[in-house]
Amino acid sequence: MKQTILVTGGAGYIGSHTCVELLAAGHEVVVLDNLSNSRRSALDRIARIAGCGLGFPLPVAVDPRPTASGVEPVGRSFSAPSPVAVNPRPTASGVEPVGDSFSAPTPVAVNPRPTTSGVEPVGRSFSAPSPVAVNPRPTSGIESNPESGLHFVEADVRDAGALDALFAAHRIDAVIHFAGLKSVGESVQQPLRYYDNNVGGTLALLAAMRRANVHRIVFSSSATVYAGDGQPPFREDSALGPANPYGRTKLMIEQILTDLAASAPEWKVVLLRYFNPAGAHESGILGEDPKGIPNNLMPCVSQVAVGRLAQLEVFGNDYPTPDGTGVRDYIHVVDLAVGHVAALGAIEQLPAVSTLNLGTGRGVSVLELVKAFERACGRPVPYRIAPRRPGDAAVNYSDPAEAARRLGWRATRDLDAMCRDAWRWQQWQAQHAAEL
Ligand code: NAD
Ligand code: UFG
Repeated sequence: MKQTILVTGGAGYIGSHTCVELLAAGHEVVVLDNLSNSRRSALDRIARIAGCGLGFPLPVAVDPRPTASGVEPVGRSFSAPSPVAVNPRPTASGVEPVGDSFSAPTPVAVNPRPTTSGVEPVGRSFSAPSPVAVNPRPTSGIESNPESGLHFVEADVRDAGALDALFAAHRIDAVIHFAGLKSVGESVQQPLRYYDNNVGGTLALLAAMRRANVHRIVFSSSATVYAGDGQPPFREDSALGPANPYGRTKLMIEQILTDLAASAPEWKVVLLRYFNPAGAHESGILGEDPKGIPNNLMPCVSQVAVGRLAQLEVFGNDYPTPDGTGVRDYIHVVDLAVGHVAALGAIEQLPAVSTLNLGTGRGVSVLELVKAFERACGRPVPYRIAPRRPGDAAVNYSDPAEAARRLGWRATRDLDAMCRDAWRWQQWQAQHAAEL
Protein backbone atom coordinates (compact mmCIF):
# COMPACT_ATOMS: atom_id res chain seq x y z
CA MET A 1 0.00 0.00 0.00
CA LYS A 2 1.34 3.39 -0.96
CA GLN A 3 2.24 5.51 2.05
CA THR A 4 3.83 8.88 2.73
CA ILE A 5 6.98 8.48 4.77
CA LEU A 6 8.89 11.22 6.56
CA VAL A 7 12.61 10.44 6.44
CA THR A 8 14.63 12.59 8.84
CA GLY A 9 18.28 12.70 7.82
CA GLY A 10 17.23 11.46 4.39
CA ALA A 11 20.04 13.30 2.58
CA GLY A 12 22.67 11.33 4.53
CA TYR A 13 24.39 8.05 3.75
CA ILE A 14 21.86 5.46 4.92
CA GLY A 15 18.86 7.78 4.62
CA SER A 16 19.47 8.56 0.95
CA HIS A 17 19.65 4.87 0.02
CA THR A 18 16.49 4.24 2.01
CA CYS A 19 14.72 7.03 0.09
CA VAL A 20 15.65 5.26 -3.15
CA GLU A 21 14.14 2.00 -1.92
CA LEU A 22 11.02 3.70 -0.56
CA LEU A 23 10.43 5.41 -3.90
CA ALA A 24 11.06 2.12 -5.71
CA ALA A 25 8.42 0.50 -3.49
CA GLY A 26 5.95 3.17 -4.62
CA HIS A 27 5.91 5.36 -1.52
CA GLU A 28 5.86 9.14 -1.33
CA VAL A 29 8.91 10.42 0.56
CA VAL A 30 9.35 13.65 2.50
CA VAL A 31 12.95 14.28 3.56
CA LEU A 32 13.79 16.58 6.45
CA ASP A 33 17.49 17.28 6.79
CA ASN A 34 19.56 20.24 7.98
CA LEU A 35 22.40 19.17 5.64
CA SER A 36 24.89 19.33 8.52
CA ASN A 37 26.56 16.17 7.22
CA SER A 38 25.18 15.81 3.73
CA ARG A 39 24.69 17.66 0.50
CA ARG A 40 21.70 19.10 -1.26
CA SER A 41 22.80 17.35 -4.45
CA ALA A 42 22.03 13.99 -2.80
CA LEU A 43 18.33 14.82 -3.21
CA ASP A 44 18.84 15.35 -6.89
CA ARG A 45 20.69 12.07 -7.22
CA ILE A 46 17.99 10.19 -5.30
CA ALA A 47 15.41 11.58 -7.70
CA ARG A 48 17.53 10.58 -10.67
CA ILE A 49 17.90 7.01 -9.47
CA ALA A 50 14.19 6.89 -8.71
CA GLY A 51 13.65 7.55 -12.37
CA CYS A 52 12.97 11.25 -12.50
CA GLY A 53 15.71 12.57 -14.69
CA LEU A 54 14.93 16.10 -13.69
CA GLY A 55 15.73 15.71 -10.06
CA PHE A 56 15.28 19.08 -8.43
CA PRO A 57 16.97 21.28 -11.00
CA LEU A 58 14.49 24.11 -11.43
CA PRO A 59 13.73 27.06 -9.22
CA VAL A 60 11.20 26.14 -6.63
CA ALA A 61 9.05 28.15 -4.32
CA VAL A 62 10.94 29.71 -1.46
CA ASP A 63 9.63 29.99 2.03
CA PRO A 64 10.98 33.32 3.27
CA ARG A 65 10.21 32.63 6.92
CA PRO A 66 13.29 32.13 9.08
CA THR A 67 12.94 29.03 11.20
CA ALA A 68 13.09 28.91 14.95
CA SER A 69 16.47 27.24 14.89
CA GLY A 70 18.01 29.82 12.64
CA VAL A 71 18.28 27.35 9.81
CA GLU A 72 18.23 29.21 6.55
CA PRO A 73 14.97 29.20 4.63
CA VAL A 74 14.46 26.34 2.28
CA GLY A 75 13.81 26.50 -1.39
CA ARG A 76 17.11 27.07 -3.15
CA SER A 77 17.44 25.44 -6.52
CA PHE A 78 19.05 22.10 -6.74
CA SER A 79 22.04 22.00 -9.01
CA ALA A 80 21.35 20.98 -12.54
CA PRO A 81 22.15 17.32 -12.98
CA SER A 82 24.36 16.03 -15.72
CA PRO A 83 23.35 12.91 -17.60
CA VAL A 84 23.88 9.71 -15.69
CA ALA A 85 23.30 6.34 -17.19
CA VAL A 86 20.74 4.33 -15.31
CA ASN A 87 19.46 1.00 -16.44
CA PRO A 88 15.80 1.13 -17.42
CA ARG A 89 14.89 -2.25 -15.96
CA PRO A 90 13.74 -2.25 -12.37
CA THR A 91 15.41 -4.66 -9.99
CA ALA A 92 14.85 -5.52 -6.37
CA SER A 93 16.60 -2.30 -5.47
CA GLY A 94 15.02 -0.34 -8.29
CA VAL A 95 18.12 0.17 -10.38
CA GLU A 96 20.66 -2.07 -12.02
CA PRO A 97 24.37 -1.43 -12.26
CA VAL A 98 25.29 0.86 -15.06
CA GLY A 99 28.60 -0.57 -16.06
CA ASP A 100 32.08 0.17 -14.95
CA SER A 101 32.93 3.20 -16.98
CA PHE A 102 31.71 6.46 -15.55
CA SER A 103 34.06 8.71 -17.43
CA ALA A 104 31.70 9.21 -20.33
CA PRO A 105 28.23 8.16 -19.28
CA THR A 106 25.71 7.92 -22.05
CA PRO A 107 22.25 9.29 -21.46
CA VAL A 108 19.87 6.38 -21.55
CA ALA A 109 16.28 5.77 -20.78
CA VAL A 110 15.56 5.47 -17.11
CA ASN A 111 12.89 3.94 -15.02
CA PRO A 112 10.49 6.76 -14.15
CA ARG A 113 9.09 5.07 -11.07
CA PRO A 114 10.28 1.50 -10.52
CA THR A 115 7.33 -0.59 -9.51
CA THR A 116 7.07 -3.78 -7.54
CA SER A 117 4.68 -5.24 -10.09
CA GLY A 118 7.44 -6.34 -12.41
CA VAL A 119 6.03 -4.18 -15.18
CA GLU A 120 8.77 -2.23 -16.87
CA PRO A 121 7.83 1.43 -17.03
CA VAL A 122 8.69 3.26 -20.19
CA GLY A 123 11.93 5.13 -19.78
CA ARG A 124 12.62 8.72 -20.59
CA SER A 125 15.79 10.41 -21.59
CA PHE A 126 17.67 12.77 -19.33
CA SER A 127 18.79 14.71 -22.34
CA ALA A 128 15.35 16.10 -23.14
CA PRO A 129 13.76 17.04 -19.87
CA SER A 130 10.15 18.04 -19.88
CA PRO A 131 8.74 20.85 -17.76
CA VAL A 132 8.67 20.08 -14.08
CA ALA A 133 6.03 20.98 -11.57
CA VAL A 134 7.21 23.22 -8.76
CA ASN A 135 6.24 23.25 -5.15
CA PRO A 136 2.47 23.49 -5.04
CA ARG A 137 2.52 24.75 -1.44
CA PRO A 138 4.73 27.81 -1.52
CA THR A 139 4.31 28.64 2.15
CA SER A 140 5.09 25.26 3.65
CA GLY A 141 8.84 25.38 3.18
CA ILE A 142 8.68 22.16 1.21
CA GLU A 143 10.42 21.72 -2.09
CA SER A 144 8.67 19.14 -4.19
CA ASN A 145 9.42 17.06 -7.19
CA PRO A 146 6.04 15.35 -7.56
CA GLU A 147 7.15 13.34 -10.56
CA SER A 148 9.60 11.36 -8.47
CA GLY A 149 7.46 11.36 -5.32
CA LEU A 150 10.24 13.11 -3.41
CA HIS A 151 9.86 16.22 -1.26
CA PHE A 152 12.47 18.06 0.76
CA VAL A 153 12.49 20.36 3.76
CA GLU A 154 15.81 21.84 4.79
CA ALA A 155 15.35 22.18 8.53
CA ASP A 156 16.62 20.96 11.84
CA VAL A 157 14.72 18.13 13.50
CA ARG A 158 14.73 20.18 16.71
CA ASP A 159 12.75 22.90 14.95
CA ALA A 160 9.17 22.39 16.17
CA GLY A 161 7.79 25.00 13.77
CA ALA A 162 9.30 23.33 10.74
CA LEU A 163 8.02 19.94 11.87
CA ASP A 164 4.49 21.25 12.43
CA ALA A 165 4.50 22.88 8.98
CA LEU A 166 5.68 19.64 7.42
CA PHE A 167 3.04 17.53 9.16
CA ALA A 168 0.38 20.07 8.20
CA ALA A 169 1.39 19.95 4.54
CA HIS A 170 1.70 16.18 4.20
CA ARG A 171 -0.38 13.42 5.71
CA ILE A 172 2.52 11.36 7.03
CA ASP A 173 1.87 7.67 7.68
CA ALA A 174 5.18 6.81 9.32
CA VAL A 175 8.57 8.27 10.15
CA ILE A 176 12.03 6.81 9.65
CA HIS A 177 14.34 8.71 11.96
CA PHE A 178 17.96 8.81 10.76
CA ALA A 179 18.82 12.41 11.66
CA GLY A 180 21.65 12.34 14.16
CA LEU A 181 25.34 12.81 14.74
CA LYS A 182 27.33 9.59 14.50
CA SER A 183 31.02 10.00 15.26
CA VAL A 184 32.07 8.06 18.34
CA GLY A 185 35.26 10.11 18.89
CA GLU A 186 33.49 13.43 18.41
CA SER A 187 30.83 12.39 20.92
CA VAL A 188 33.52 11.93 23.56
CA GLN A 189 34.80 15.46 22.87
CA GLN A 190 31.37 17.11 22.55
CA PRO A 191 28.88 15.12 24.61
CA LEU A 192 26.38 17.94 25.09
CA ARG A 193 26.17 18.48 21.34
CA TYR A 194 25.44 14.78 20.87
CA TYR A 195 22.79 14.62 23.60
CA ASP A 196 21.18 17.81 22.31
CA ASN A 197 21.13 16.79 18.67
CA ASN A 198 20.34 13.10 19.02
CA VAL A 199 18.18 12.93 22.14
CA GLY A 200 16.80 16.49 21.91
CA GLY A 201 16.07 16.01 18.21
CA THR A 202 14.18 12.80 18.88
CA LEU A 203 12.12 14.40 21.65
CA ALA A 204 11.14 17.29 19.38
CA LEU A 205 10.24 14.86 16.62
CA LEU A 206 8.12 12.66 18.88
CA ALA A 207 6.27 15.67 20.30
CA ALA A 208 5.48 16.89 16.77
CA MET A 209 4.39 13.39 15.73
CA ARG A 210 2.03 13.26 18.66
CA ARG A 211 0.58 16.67 17.79
CA ALA A 212 0.04 15.43 14.24
CA ASN A 213 -1.39 12.05 15.29
CA VAL A 214 1.42 10.11 13.64
CA HIS A 215 2.36 7.06 15.70
CA ARG A 216 4.63 4.89 13.56
CA ILE A 217 8.40 5.25 13.85
CA VAL A 218 11.43 3.28 12.71
CA PHE A 219 14.59 4.37 14.52
CA SER A 220 18.27 4.08 13.52
CA SER A 221 19.96 2.45 16.45
CA SER A 222 23.36 0.86 16.45
CA ALA A 223 25.29 -2.23 17.41
CA THR A 224 27.25 0.12 19.59
CA VAL A 225 24.54 -0.29 22.28
CA TYR A 226 25.85 -3.80 23.01
CA ALA A 227 28.34 -4.27 25.82
CA GLY A 228 31.85 -4.25 24.36
CA ASP A 229 32.93 -7.23 26.44
CA GLY A 230 29.94 -9.28 25.30
CA GLN A 231 30.27 -12.46 23.32
CA PRO A 232 29.36 -12.28 19.60
CA PRO A 233 27.22 -13.04 17.75
CA PHE A 234 25.10 -10.33 19.36
CA ARG A 235 21.42 -11.08 19.70
CA GLU A 236 18.82 -8.48 20.53
CA ASP A 237 18.76 -9.76 24.12
CA SER A 238 22.55 -9.67 24.55
CA ALA A 239 23.90 -7.49 27.34
CA LEU A 240 23.79 -3.76 26.68
CA GLY A 241 26.44 -1.26 27.71
CA PRO A 242 27.50 1.43 25.26
CA ALA A 243 31.00 2.69 25.91
CA ASN A 244 30.68 6.28 24.70
CA PRO A 245 28.22 9.22 24.59
CA TYR A 246 27.18 8.44 21.00
CA GLY A 247 26.17 4.92 21.97
CA ARG A 248 24.43 6.19 25.07
CA THR A 249 22.31 8.59 22.98
CA LYS A 250 21.19 5.56 20.97
CA LEU A 251 20.32 3.53 24.05
CA MET A 252 18.53 6.49 25.66
CA ILE A 253 16.44 6.99 22.54
CA GLU A 254 15.58 3.28 22.49
CA GLN A 255 14.40 3.64 26.09
CA ILE A 256 12.41 6.82 25.38
CA LEU A 257 10.65 5.12 22.49
CA THR A 258 9.94 2.05 24.59
CA ASP A 259 8.46 4.18 27.39
CA LEU A 260 6.37 6.11 24.88
CA ALA A 261 4.94 2.94 23.35
CA ALA A 262 4.10 1.66 26.83
CA SER A 263 2.25 4.87 27.62
CA ALA A 264 -0.27 4.74 24.78
CA PRO A 265 -1.43 1.79 22.67
CA GLU A 266 -1.49 3.66 19.36
CA TRP A 267 2.31 3.73 19.03
CA LYS A 268 4.33 1.23 16.98
CA VAL A 269 8.09 1.44 17.27
CA VAL A 270 10.82 -0.47 15.43
CA LEU A 271 14.37 -0.13 16.75
CA LEU A 272 16.87 -1.22 14.10
CA ARG A 273 20.38 -1.89 15.33
CA TYR A 274 22.74 -1.56 12.40
CA PHE A 275 26.08 -3.30 12.33
CA ASN A 276 28.67 -1.84 9.90
CA PRO A 277 27.05 -0.22 6.86
CA ALA A 278 29.33 -0.24 3.81
CA GLY A 279 29.20 0.09 0.05
CA ALA A 280 27.15 2.41 -2.11
CA HIS A 281 24.30 2.41 -4.56
CA GLU A 282 25.03 0.18 -7.52
CA SER A 283 24.39 3.07 -9.94
CA GLY A 284 27.58 4.65 -8.56
CA ILE A 285 25.99 8.06 -8.02
CA LEU A 286 25.04 7.74 -4.36
CA GLY A 287 27.19 6.70 -1.42
CA GLU A 288 28.90 7.73 1.77
CA ASP A 289 30.29 11.22 1.55
CA PRO A 290 32.16 11.82 4.80
CA LYS A 291 33.32 15.33 5.54
CA GLY A 292 37.08 15.59 6.21
CA ILE A 293 39.19 12.52 6.84
CA PRO A 294 36.92 9.51 7.30
CA ASN A 295 36.99 7.37 10.45
CA ASN A 296 35.38 4.23 9.17
CA LEU A 297 37.26 1.49 7.42
CA MET A 298 35.54 1.28 4.02
CA PRO A 299 35.75 5.01 3.16
CA CYS A 300 39.41 5.01 4.27
CA VAL A 301 40.22 2.02 2.06
CA SER A 302 38.35 3.62 -0.80
CA GLN A 303 40.23 6.92 -0.46
CA VAL A 304 43.56 5.10 -0.36
CA ALA A 305 42.62 3.20 -3.52
CA VAL A 306 41.76 6.41 -5.37
CA GLY A 307 44.93 8.12 -4.15
CA ARG A 308 43.36 10.69 -1.80
CA LEU A 309 45.04 9.05 1.19
CA ALA A 310 48.57 7.66 0.97
CA GLN A 311 48.02 4.47 2.93
CA LEU A 312 45.63 2.74 5.26
CA GLU A 313 46.46 2.33 8.92
CA VAL A 314 45.35 -1.08 10.13
CA PHE A 315 44.60 -0.60 13.80
CA GLY A 316 46.19 -3.66 15.38
CA ASN A 317 47.13 -7.11 14.10
CA ASP A 318 47.41 -8.79 17.48
CA TYR A 319 43.73 -9.43 18.19
CA PRO A 320 42.61 -13.01 18.87
CA THR A 321 41.21 -13.34 15.33
CA PRO A 322 42.37 -15.53 12.41
CA ASP A 323 44.66 -12.84 10.92
CA GLY A 324 45.00 -10.70 14.05
CA THR A 325 42.94 -7.77 12.72
CA GLY A 326 39.52 -6.60 13.94
CA VAL A 327 36.44 -8.46 12.75
CA ARG A 328 33.15 -6.68 11.91
CA ASP A 329 29.78 -7.42 10.33
CA TYR A 330 29.76 -5.26 7.18
CA ILE A 331 26.34 -4.90 5.61
CA HIS A 332 25.66 -3.42 2.17
CA VAL A 333 23.89 -0.09 2.57
CA VAL A 334 21.25 -1.13 0.02
CA ASP A 335 20.45 -4.26 2.07
CA LEU A 336 20.11 -1.99 5.07
CA ALA A 337 17.80 0.33 3.13
CA VAL A 338 15.66 -2.61 2.00
CA GLY A 339 15.46 -3.66 5.66
CA HIS A 340 13.76 -0.34 6.47
CA VAL A 341 11.16 -0.87 3.77
CA ALA A 342 10.56 -4.36 5.18
CA ALA A 343 10.18 -2.94 8.69
CA LEU A 344 7.58 -0.45 7.48
CA GLY A 345 5.75 -3.18 5.60
CA ALA A 346 5.58 -5.35 8.71
CA ILE A 347 4.99 -2.65 11.32
CA GLU A 348 1.26 -3.26 11.80
CA GLN A 349 1.87 -6.95 12.52
CA LEU A 350 4.78 -6.33 14.88
CA PRO A 351 4.47 -5.81 18.63
CA ALA A 352 4.33 -2.27 20.03
CA VAL A 353 8.13 -2.24 20.20
CA SER A 354 10.43 -4.46 18.14
CA THR A 355 14.20 -4.46 18.41
CA LEU A 356 15.97 -5.98 15.43
CA ASN A 357 19.58 -6.40 14.37
CA LEU A 358 20.36 -5.55 10.77
CA GLY A 359 23.55 -7.36 9.89
CA THR A 360 24.74 -10.30 7.83
CA GLY A 361 25.83 -12.55 10.69
CA ARG A 362 29.25 -12.88 9.04
CA GLY A 363 32.44 -11.47 10.49
CA VAL A 364 35.06 -10.00 8.12
CA SER A 365 38.55 -8.94 9.17
CA VAL A 366 40.23 -5.67 8.19
CA LEU A 367 42.72 -7.47 5.95
CA GLU A 368 39.97 -9.56 4.36
CA LEU A 369 38.17 -6.34 3.45
CA VAL A 370 41.37 -4.82 2.06
CA LYS A 371 41.91 -7.86 -0.17
CA ALA A 372 38.31 -7.75 -1.41
CA PHE A 373 38.69 -4.06 -2.21
CA GLU A 374 41.90 -4.72 -4.14
CA ARG A 375 40.01 -7.28 -6.23
CA ALA A 376 37.25 -4.75 -6.88
CA CYS A 377 39.49 -1.86 -7.90
CA GLY A 378 42.26 -3.86 -9.54
CA ARG A 379 45.04 -2.03 -7.76
CA PRO A 380 46.93 -2.45 -4.50
CA VAL A 381 45.71 -0.73 -1.33
CA PRO A 382 48.89 0.11 0.58
CA TYR A 383 48.63 -0.27 4.33
CA ARG A 384 50.74 -0.33 7.45
CA ILE A 385 50.06 -1.97 10.76
CA ALA A 386 49.40 0.69 13.41
CA PRO A 387 48.66 0.39 17.13
CA ARG A 388 45.19 -0.70 18.22
CA ARG A 389 42.59 2.07 18.24
CA PRO A 390 41.43 2.73 21.81
CA GLY A 391 37.97 1.39 22.51
CA ASP A 392 37.88 -1.06 19.58
CA ALA A 393 36.47 -4.52 20.17
CA ALA A 394 38.27 -7.48 18.61
CA VAL A 395 35.17 -9.07 17.11
CA ASN A 396 31.65 -7.72 16.58
CA TYR A 397 29.00 -9.40 14.46
CA SER A 398 25.29 -9.97 14.60
CA ASP A 399 22.84 -12.76 14.88
CA PRO A 400 20.35 -11.52 12.26
CA ALA A 401 17.82 -14.35 12.74
CA GLU A 402 15.20 -12.21 14.45
CA ALA A 403 14.98 -9.76 11.55
CA ALA A 404 14.62 -12.70 9.16
CA ARG A 405 11.85 -14.15 11.29
CA ARG A 406 9.97 -10.92 11.92
CA LEU A 407 10.49 -9.10 8.63
CA GLY A 408 11.26 -11.88 6.17
CA TRP A 409 14.39 -9.84 5.43
CA ARG A 410 18.00 -10.88 5.12
CA ALA A 411 21.09 -9.31 3.60
CA THR A 412 21.78 -10.62 0.10
CA ARG A 413 24.77 -8.59 -1.08
CA ASP A 414 28.25 -9.86 -0.26
CA LEU A 415 31.55 -8.18 0.54
CA ASP A 416 32.59 -8.14 -3.12
CA ALA A 417 29.42 -6.21 -4.01
CA MET A 418 30.09 -3.72 -1.19
CA CYS A 419 33.62 -3.12 -2.46
CA ARG A 420 32.59 -2.94 -6.12
CA ASP A 421 29.87 -0.39 -5.41
CA ALA A 422 32.00 1.67 -3.01
CA TRP A 423 34.72 1.81 -5.66
CA ARG A 424 32.27 2.81 -8.36
CA TRP A 425 31.00 5.63 -6.11
CA GLN A 426 34.56 6.71 -5.29
CA GLN A 427 35.36 7.00 -8.96
CA TRP A 428 32.17 8.88 -9.73
CA GLN A 429 32.95 11.36 -6.95
CA ALA A 430 36.44 11.88 -8.29
CA GLN A 431 35.05 12.63 -11.74
CA HIS A 432 32.09 14.76 -10.64
CA ALA A 433 33.50 16.75 -7.74
CA ALA A 434 32.00 19.96 -9.09
CA GLU A 435 28.48 18.52 -8.98
CA LEU A 436 28.60 17.48 -5.36
P1 NAD B 1 24.88 10.64 7.97
O1 NAD B 1 25.61 11.65 8.78
O2 NAD B 1 25.34 10.39 6.58
O3 NAD B 1 23.33 10.99 7.91
C1 NAD B 1 22.67 11.66 8.97
C2 NAD B 1 21.87 12.79 8.35
O4 NAD B 1 21.17 13.48 9.38
C3 NAD B 1 22.74 13.82 7.65
O5 NAD B 1 22.21 14.09 6.37
C4 NAD B 1 22.67 15.06 8.54
O6 NAD B 1 22.76 16.25 7.79
C5 NAD B 1 21.30 14.88 9.18
N1 NAD B 1 21.17 15.50 10.49
C6 NAD B 1 21.97 15.37 11.57
N2 NAD B 1 21.48 16.08 12.60
C7 NAD B 1 20.32 16.65 12.15
C8 NAD B 1 19.37 17.50 12.73
N3 NAD B 1 19.48 17.93 13.99
N4 NAD B 1 18.31 17.88 12.00
C9 NAD B 1 18.17 17.48 10.73
N5 NAD B 1 19.05 16.68 10.11
C10 NAD B 1 20.12 16.28 10.83
O7 NAD B 1 24.88 9.28 8.81
P2 NAD B 1 24.41 7.83 8.41
O8 NAD B 1 25.58 6.95 8.37
O9 NAD B 1 23.51 7.89 7.24
O10 NAD B 1 23.59 7.45 9.72
C11 NAD B 1 22.19 7.60 9.80
C12 NAD B 1 21.72 7.17 11.18
O11 NAD B 1 22.12 5.82 11.39
C13 NAD B 1 22.34 7.99 12.31
O12 NAD B 1 21.36 8.18 13.30
C14 NAD B 1 23.44 7.09 12.82
O13 NAD B 1 23.72 7.32 14.18
C15 NAD B 1 22.85 5.72 12.59
N6 NAD B 1 23.87 4.67 12.47
C16 NAD B 1 24.87 4.80 11.55
C17 NAD B 1 25.86 3.82 11.47
C18 NAD B 1 27.00 3.96 10.49
O14 NAD B 1 28.04 3.31 10.69
N7 NAD B 1 26.87 4.75 9.41
C19 NAD B 1 25.82 2.70 12.30
C20 NAD B 1 24.78 2.59 13.20
C21 NAD B 1 23.80 3.59 13.28
N1 UFG C 1 39.93 0.21 11.11
C1 UFG C 1 41.25 0.24 10.71
N2 UFG C 1 41.70 1.36 10.10
C2 UFG C 1 40.92 2.45 9.86
C3 UFG C 1 39.57 2.41 10.28
C4 UFG C 1 39.11 1.27 10.91
O1 UFG C 1 42.00 -0.71 10.91
O2 UFG C 1 41.41 3.44 9.30
C5 UFG C 1 39.42 -1.01 11.74
C6 UFG C 1 38.91 -0.81 13.16
O3 UFG C 1 39.95 -0.92 14.07
C7 UFG C 1 37.87 -1.92 13.26
C8 UFG C 1 37.31 -2.01 11.84
O4 UFG C 1 38.28 -1.43 11.00
O5 UFG C 1 38.48 -3.13 13.56
C9 UFG C 1 35.99 -1.28 11.66
O6 UFG C 1 36.13 0.06 12.12
P1 UFG C 1 35.03 1.18 11.75
O7 UFG C 1 35.53 2.46 12.33
O8 UFG C 1 34.72 1.16 10.30
O9 UFG C 1 33.71 0.67 12.49
P2 UFG C 1 33.40 0.40 14.03
O10 UFG C 1 33.06 -1.06 14.14
O11 UFG C 1 34.46 0.91 14.90
O12 UFG C 1 32.09 1.29 14.31
C10 UFG C 1 31.05 1.47 13.34
C11 UFG C 1 30.49 2.88 13.47
C12 UFG C 1 29.73 3.02 14.75
C13 UFG C 1 28.69 1.94 14.84
C14 UFG C 1 29.35 0.58 14.72
C15 UFG C 1 28.31 -0.49 14.71
O13 UFG C 1 31.54 3.84 13.40
O14 UFG C 1 29.08 4.27 14.77
O15 UFG C 1 30.07 0.50 13.51
O16 UFG C 1 28.92 -1.73 14.82
F1 UFG C 1 28.04 2.01 16.02
